[in-house]
Formats: sequence, C-alpha cells, structure tokens
Amino acid sequence: MNPPPSFDPSPRLLLSPDARPRLVQIHRDNPIELRRDLIAGLIASHAAASPKFLYDRLGSRLFEAITELPEYYPTRTEAEIFDAHAGTMAQAIGAVDTLIDLGAGNCAKALRLIPSLRPSRYVAVDISVDFLDDAIADVQRKHPMLDVAGVGLDFSSELQLPPDLVQGRPVFFYPGSSIGNFTPAAARDFLAVVQRQAATGGLLVGVDLVKPIELLEPAYDDALGVTAAFNLNLLRHLNRLIGSDFNLRDWRHVAFFNQADSRIEMHLETRRTLVVRWPEGERRFEAGERLHTENSYKYSVEGFTDLLRASGFAHTRCWVDAKGWFAVFWAQA
Ligand code: AVJ
Repeated sequence: MNPPPSFDPSPRLLLSPDARPRLVQIHRDNPIELRRDLIAGLIASHAAASPKFLYDRLGSRLFEAITELPEYYPTRTEAEIFDAHAGTMAQAIGAVDTLIDLGAGNCAKALRLIPSLRPSRYVAVDISVDFLDDAIADVQRKHPMLDVAGVGLDFSSELQLPPDLVQGRPVFFYPGSSIGNFTPAAARDFLAVVQRQAATGGLLVGVDLVKPIELLEPAYDDALGVTAAFNLNLLRHLNRLIGSDFNLRDWRHVAFFNQADSRIEMHLETRRTLVVRWPEGERRFEAGERLHTENSYKYSVEGFTDLLRASGFAHTRCWVDAKGWFAVFWAQA
C-alpha cells in the first residue's frame, strides 16, 4: 500500500524509523508533598487515596486485563463507536496537526484513530512513564512517518505540556471515560483548561453513560477478581511510596453504584480491626472500615453536553453505541 521509502517525498523520512521516540518526564509534585498528601488521606476520618495510585506498572497491566473482561463493557463499547463512525468523526474533527492522548496507557485507542485522523504528530501523555516507553515505541513502529513523543505527567492536577510539542491545530483525545474520575465540578475545571489549550482545535472525549445497576456493578466487581486485584494493588503501591505495612490479606475489594451521586465507588474494606504503620505515623482501622480509592461518574448525553458548554466549548457533537451505554463527544474549542 505505502510506496517504498525512496519514493516518498516527505522530509520527515529523514528521521530514522528505528529511533526511539522522545520521552520526557515532568515531575511537578515533589516526593515530600506526595507523601504528605497521601498520609493526609490515610488519617482522614473517611480514609481516601487518589485513584492515580492505582497505576503503577502492575496496576497499568491489571487495568489492561480489566478491559478484556466480559463484564467491563466501556473499552469495547467505545472501540465499537470509533470503528462504526471513524469516517464521520474524522470529517467533523477536520485537520489534526498534533493528537494529544491524555492517559494514553498502551496507546491502543489512539492506534485505532490515527489512520482516520492522520495527525502529523502524536503526543502520548500518561502518569506511568515506564509503561509509556514500550507503548510509544510500538506506535512509532506501526507509523514510521508519524512524529511520536511521550510525556510522563500527572495532568490531573495541572495540564502543562511542553509548548514545543503542541504545534499547529491540536486535538486532545481523552478516551475511556477517565473524565469520570473527576467530580463534575472538577471535570468542568479540567475541561476548561483543555478548552483554552486546544485553541483552534478541540477535544474528543469518551464518556460512560448511566445504565441499569445490574450492568454497572459487575463491570467494577468482576467474577474473576481482576478488579479486586487492581484495587488491592494500590496498597502495594502505597507501601512502596510511604513505607507503610498494609497487608493485602486484611482487605477486601468493594464496589457499588451510588445512585444519588451517579457514580461507581471503589473502596478497600478491612476484614478485621487493624493498625497500619509507616515511618512517622499510624492509622487504626475498625473491622469493616473503608479506604475510598475511586469514583467513576456516569453521565447522560444531556448532562455531559451541558458540562462541555459550561467549560467553554463552542460546539459539540456526539456518537453513542446502539445499546446507549457509552458516548464519544467531539467538542470544538
Ligand atoms: C480508567 C477511570 C476509566 O472508571 O472505569 C476500571 C478505571 N476502575 N475498573 C473506570 C477502573 C475499576 C476506569 N477508568
């Protein structure tokens, strides 16, 4: 299909196809602040840890396994939408110079879109850099002509990308319903930041929709126990980060739909009364007490459209699967 390289007039060919893509790590929070925030969450009356701590190297792999579970519908439903509407989406979006993938992970979702969007540059952003390294090398192998870069950045607290990486008309890509980890108010603030940075471009975002509880809850409490392992793995990560002594066998995975707040909540619950210790502190947990690890908000099409408009996006359009389970929105900045 592609002409042999010697006939391709593109100057980008001068980039060696086997060069590893650029990879930059942007560390904003220093380890002392990170530690302080984590401990503040642990000693709070309702103990909580940010869901970003679910994604160390093993956590990222466990999440990848979750996406293959029969109960976990979001990833495959979103992929169905991309496959069914790739052409219309590309048309609605228009020319893309830089495709910025927020929470790129294994880059599988971007790989589906790159052929139809045809960006000249792809910037993969993820909190877990070590995971990104292999993923973007794979993107580069599959698209030798694409300018590929990886950025290790916790964009949940501040979306600050190296300006030289965001050139021309940027399109932000935020798939998988990761926006659901923010409260609606925080999502609005985050979307407003994306809207400002998108300039003449826009945002393509995947959003999980409200549906019967019988479908929602098993997606976050699967029969095989992969989501339980994913949740429990956060404790191993905390043990490494702050030197705590969480014993995973003392905790169980809990996930349920909170109808009033329209969100799935994930918690870790103690099986007995216990004390968790770390170098300069400790926390006693009663039997059945919980550590809140994640919220995953579910929206209606109308609700999320309103959120995009409130964030400053001028024009929105959306595609939904036949079952009405998941939506992909294009929001023009
Ligand atoms: C990656 C945040 C979209 O909320 O569905 C999967 C994370 N948590 N199973 C989600 C998750 C439990 C996932 N997001």
